Amino acid sequence: MNSQRSDGDFEKTPSQGGLHSPAGSTDERQPGQFTHAPVLAAEVVQGFRDRRTPSTVIVDATVGLAGHSQRILDELDWAEVIGIDRDRRALEQAQDRLSRYGGRARLVHARFGEISDAVAPVAAVAGVLADLGVSSMQLDDPGRGFSFRFDAPLDMRMDPDGEDADVAGFLLAVSTKDLIRIFRENGVGTLSIRYANALKSQLPVATTGELAEIIVSATPARLRGGRTHPATKVFQALRVSVNYEASELIHFLPAALGLLDRGGVMQVISYHSGEDRLVKRFIRLVETGGCICPPRLGCTCGAEPAGERTTRHAIIPSDDELAANPRSRSARMRALRRTANDVADVLERYWQQVPTWHG
Ligand SMILES: C[S@@+](CC[C@H](N)C(=O)[O-])C[C@H]1O[C@@H](n2cnc3c(N)ncnc32)[C@H](O)[C@@H]1O
Repeated sequence: MNSQRSDGDFEKTPSQGGLHSPAGSTDERQPGQFTHAPVLAAEVVQGFRDRRTPSTVIVDATVGLAGHSQRILDELDWAEVIGIDRDRRALEQAQDRLSRYGGRARLVHARFGEISDAVAPVAAVAGVLADLGVSSMQLDDPGRGFSFRFDAPLDMRMDPDGEDADVAGFLLAVSTKDLIRIFRENGVGTLSIRYANALKSQLPVATTGELAEIIVSATPARLRGGRTHPATKVFQALRVSVNYEASELIHFLPAALGLLDRGGVMQVISYHSGEDRLVKRFIRLVETGGCICPPRLGCTCGAEPAGERTTRHAIIPSDDELAANPRSRSARMRALRRTANDVADVLERYWQQVPTWHG
């Protein structure tokens, strides 16, 4: 496999400060290099080990700092990896880590919602992995505006070179009503209206510091002293919004199923309940073929199962992993093996049903 990136060379930027690890991973910086502990890595490799496809390609749809990709390439000698990320700075780091695997690894700058185009001309693969969310490299880079720990321009885009608005621009454009809905859908809770009104009445909000301050001021005094900063969920909701994270996942799941060879496996690691619910419903739909006949009458709609879950329940980090890496605590991995040759019918049913899967 060609080890060159498909979209040309990335311009090198100076190494960013701080830890370089995915959210949920621990990293210890060695002089001149970074080490890396990807979440549920042994379980991810195990999930791909039993290969039942002619294809040997595994797509790491969120390659980040290539922690999972490295483990896959080290432990599965048959595997070739195509790594995708929307963040060019992550790809630069991944490139450094994967160059020693030569033609077994290729990197692509793309969104995973467009996974099929991103991996073309490869059209059938043995496995797909998505380790959702942001990396600690993104969270811990003071200049990128993901965290209220650093005062920085209010950006939060995973692809800052893209054309989408940053959070500062998004707050100017969004209506108060939509902002309330976004906060509610992303777990901000009963203070959603109060926070949305506070932000919309103090525009422009240009920095992470200003955003955090407005949220703290709008929080009733009795709720301010908790373990979690009052702005945590607001930051997450705005990040999810400007990066279209829900829409990306909605498009990724069927595209990944379509890309798998029969017998291929997809594995998705989620870090919040909304994502995990969507993945779970998708797996159930594929297992039932999208049948919505009342169970007591049996299926009369002709739905055929197109895949099966490979583990009964979601996989969560072991006690050892949690002890070594507390940031992995919210991780849940679900996996699906494609069993059908033809998945067109189940994908059509998915697009009919997914608009009704609220929250
Ligand atoms: C949790 S990190 C992955 C870490 C990686 N598994 C590792 O071991 O280093 C998530 C990565 O996915 C990327 N990402 C998130 N959403 C994406 C999307 N829709 N398309 C492509 N990349 C995305 C982020 O930029 C980030 O680098």
